[in-house]
Amino acid sequence: MDSIVVTGGTPLKGKIAIAGAKNAALTLMPATLLSEEPLTLTNAPRLSDIATMTALLQSLGVEVTSMQDGKVQVLSSHAMTSTTADYEIVRKMRASNLVLGPLLARHDQAVVSLPGGCAIGARPMDIHVAALEAMGAEIELKDGYLHAKAPGGLKGAKVPLRFASVGATENVLMAATLAKGTTVITNAAREPEIVDLAKCLRSMGAQIDGEGTSTITVQGVDRLGAATHPVVTDRIELGTYMLAPVFAGGEVECLGGSLDLVGSFVEKLDAAGIDVTETPDGLKVKRRTDRATAVDVTTEVFPGFPTDLQAQMMAMLCTAEGTSVLEEKIFENRFMHAPELIRMGADIEVHGGIATVRGVERLKGAPVMATDLRASVSLILAGLAAEGETTVSRIYHLDRGYEHIEEKLGGVGAKIERVSA
Ligand code: UD1
Repeated sequence: MDSIVVTGGTPLKGKIAIAGAKNAALTLMPATLLSEEPLTLTNAPRLSDIATMTALLQSLGVEVTSMQDGKVQVLSSHAMTSTTADYEIVRKMRASNLVLGPLLARHDQAVVSLPGGCAIGARPMDIHVAALEAMGAEIELKDGYLHAKAPGGLKGAKVPLRFASVGATENVLMAATLAKGTTVITNAAREPEIVDLAKCLRSMGAQIDGEGTSTITVQGVDRLGAATHPVVTDRIELGTYMLAPVFAGGEVECLGGSLDLVGSFVEKLDAAGIDVTETPDGLKVKRRTDRATAVDVTTEVFPGFPTDLQAQMMAMLCTAEGTSVLEEKIFENRFMHAPELIRMGADIEVHGGIATVRGVERLKGAPVMATDLRASVSLILAGLAAEGETTVSRIYHLDRGYEHIEEKLGGVGAKIERVSA
């Protein structure tokens, strides 16, 4: 199995191009199920999660053509052969559940495996189910699969979500585009990936209002057509690379970045003593002093601080001056990086959903491993600041969400290499 070896202590300088968003692409791809005509996605990221979604869609009979080294994906659902999303694929990636809404909307039926346990918490699907039931679906759990049908088709309805779940909002939004009548989703998620999905669906002919706010209104149409859509910039990859010069020193410009994607994150960086400036091509980052200052962070739904940047921020705060308190409010078990950071010399105490980080002057390189995507990247970042060598193993997690990480960081001067065991 491959690992990544990082040698800390080299200041960074240069530009990093930020890819299209994984989490946007993973909801845009299933949107193809809503139409017989092709959907072309440009600026797609090259990631193993995209390959997993491709395999899932192909198992339903979707034709997927990858061009320009994976940056362009052409999807066509004109000859579908199945409406069953098999456990063997769904268990690999929770976002597989995003086929449920579109399958139900176009085929009036779907059988979708429940994703099963996930390293960062229970992550059930009750909000998706309640929302689709409000639109007339009948859903039953049998043998680990959700068996859903909508005799006579889905109907527009008032759909209040008990929590602003990203995935549930995406499933209902897609389902509502082909439902009869008007659907009003309240307490909808406001993440940029939802806005991007709404834009794409609108290019396909959907009638949607209010995306980016808590109330989304969808007027159902009879059919959707072809579209070409550029995937929005990945705000999590952006935030991750924005932290690189904070760990290592130097200055990095993240191309394609913009403040509207990372507003609350940038506020925290500013409070920690880090300068972020807008440039014509993106965002430039540099620390004001050698050591950052401690800040408290609470993860929240957008526009709050993203849970997907919590691990990276914790790693940064390990060497900040003072004590920081991080509260994880989205997922109940998302501090698995803490014990690994402690192996590198960090001083962290975790009690339930709260982690207290007392800044130390320096981290030390160590062999570490992580059990989820963002935790893995936080260890690579920590390695950039650590004395000596850090070897991060189990990097298949990283390849799910960061394309060519060693090339991107190596390109700005980091000492980083992938080693095959
Ligand atoms: C998406 C992102 C993920 C990100 C998360 C929060 C994708 C592919 N993944 O995940 O990277 O970390 O948003 O920004 O876009 N919940 C329920 N019942 C449900 C659905 C969710 O209780 O039916 C709970 C979950 O257990 C979790 C919280 O709601 O505690 C957030 O989940 P949700 O917003 O749905 O996240 P995902 O869509 O899975």
